[in-house]
This record gives sequence, structure tokens and C-alpha cells, in this order.
Amino acid sequence: MESPVEKSDIHLQKMREVKRLKSVEDRRVGSEVFDRITLQTLYKLANQGYVNLLNGAISTGKEANVFKGADEDGNLVAVKIYRVTTSDFKKMQYYIQGDPRFNIRSSSKRQLINNWVLKEFKNLNRAYNAEVRVPKPLIAKNNILVMEFIGDKNGTPARPMQQTKISNPENVVEKIIEYVKKLYNAAEIVHGDLSAFNILIHHDEPVLIDLSQGLVVDHPLSNELLNRDIKNLTKDFKKIGIEISEDEVKRKIKVL
Ligand SMILES: Nc1ncnc2c1ncn2[C@@H]1O[C@H](COP(=O)(O)OP(=O)(O)OP(=O)(O)O)[C@@H](O)[C@H]1O
Ligand SMILES: [Mg+2]
Repeated sequence: MESPVEKSDIHLQKMREVKRLKSVEDRRVGSEVFDRITLQTLYKLANQGYVNLLNGAISTGKEANVFKGADEDGNLVAVKIYRVTTSDFKKMQYYIQGDPRFNIRSSSKRQLINNWVLKEFKNLNRAYNAEVRVPKPLIAKNNILVMEFIGDKNGTPARPMQQTKISNPENVVEKIIEYVKKLYNAAEIVHGDLSAFNILIHHDEPVLIDLSQGLVVDHPLSNELLNRDIKNLTKDFKKIGIEISEDEVKRKIKVL
């Protein structure tokens, strides 16, 4: 058994670590992301060995900040932290209602975000188990999701498809369609926000990210979202020189 003194020592050490992490963060990242509960959650994740270092912002989005980090063994991880102050609760409520995995009647903003993160984690898990190339989910805790870092060993993150020069468009398009098919038929989810913004290109291969909006296929909105995903994808495919109709994609996914 640890004595209380040893325990608080560890705690202090972790606090210092996290403070240090905080100070190295990109200055553009407002302190709003590191509120008290987020810091406490980071200490817990540090204690459990999931995230022992945060060393740089990858992206500052509308609702979440994504950081590069390392676990206790020094493996790179990606840490997505939802900002409780700026998240779009209306959207979250809209998508989470009707999902049989979540029984949400009335809940606080914080609870809603925690469930949103859990939803992204579960969706990633389903996708990962269906052999769709996504970041391997590692843990979800409160407003923080830890997952496999997609990028080079030296820490350079993979770039989104719309910012990348694609050298093998046929292969990329074929893989993306295969993944949407596996998502629908094996993982039984629809991504719901699929476009070149949420596909990273890593070593010339597509990796689907940002599954927070994903819905189970028997959700009342799933068809509408699948159609929207397919529409956005076909537009993005066209931009890289591949012409394929929405119906053709649907046939390939076997939903026509
Ligand atoms: N596992 C990962 N490995 C490397 N980079 C990542 C990873 N996950 C996300 N990123 C980077 O962070 C960016 C934002 O991630 P994501 O799309 O999941 O958040 P977001 O929900 O779109 O943010 P927002 O909607 O608030 O703009 C991605 O475009 C990508 O550049
Ligand atoms: Mg995104």
C-alpha cells in the first residue's frame, strides 16, 4: 500500500508534468481547453500510463483540439480534447438522440460531451474491429480521447486528403469505398461526416478519422447521412481525377 505522502508526491509530480505540458503548448491554443476537470483527467491518464507527455498541437478545431503526445513507453499517441466551453451541444444532442447505445434524456453539457467522446471511441472500436483503417482507439475518459497517432515515427502528423497531392488516386478511392462498405455492413455504422477533411493520407493510404458523428445503421438519420457522405466523397474523388457516380458508389457498398 502506498502511504498518503507517496501518493500526493506522485500527484504533485504529475501536476508539474501537466503544467509543463501546458507551457509548451502552442500559444494559439487558448487556456480554455485546459480547464480544471480536463487537467484532472489528464493526471489520471498520466497515472495510468496512457499520456505521459503532450508535446505539440496538431489541430485546433471548432470543438476539439488534437495534440501529439506520448504514452509511458514513449509511443506516440494522438490526444483529442473536446473543449467544454465551445462545443456545439445542439449538434451533439441531435446526433446522439435515437442512438440505442445512449439513453440520454436530460443531461448536463459535460455529460453530453463525455457521451460524445464515448461515442467516437465506440465508433472507432467498431471500425477498427471491422478492419477499416482508422486510428486505433486507446481510451476515452471524460472529454478526452486517446488514439493511435497517424504520422511518421519522427512525429510529423499525416495530412488531410484535401491538403495532399495524391499520387495513386485509383487506389485511394477504391480503399475509401471499401472502408465505407465495411463500416456499413460489418461495423454497422455510418460515418456521418465523411469527406477529404476527415481522411488522412499516410504513406499514400487513406485513414478515416473523426468518427464522433457516426451513427448505427438502424438510427433514423443513418440513410440521410450515408447519402450525404457519398455525395461529399464523389465530389472529392472528382477533384483527384476519379469520376464515379453516387449510384455506382452505393452499388459498391451494396445499399442500392
Ligand atoms: N489520430 C490522429 N493522428 C494524427 N493526426 C490526427 C489524428 N486525429 C486527428 N488528427 C488531426 O487533427 C485534425 C482534427 O481532428 P478531427 O477531425 O478528429 O477533429 P474535428 O472534430 O474535426 O475538429 P473540429 O470539428 O472541432 O474542427 C485532423 O484533421 C488531423 O489533422
Ligand atoms: Mg474533422
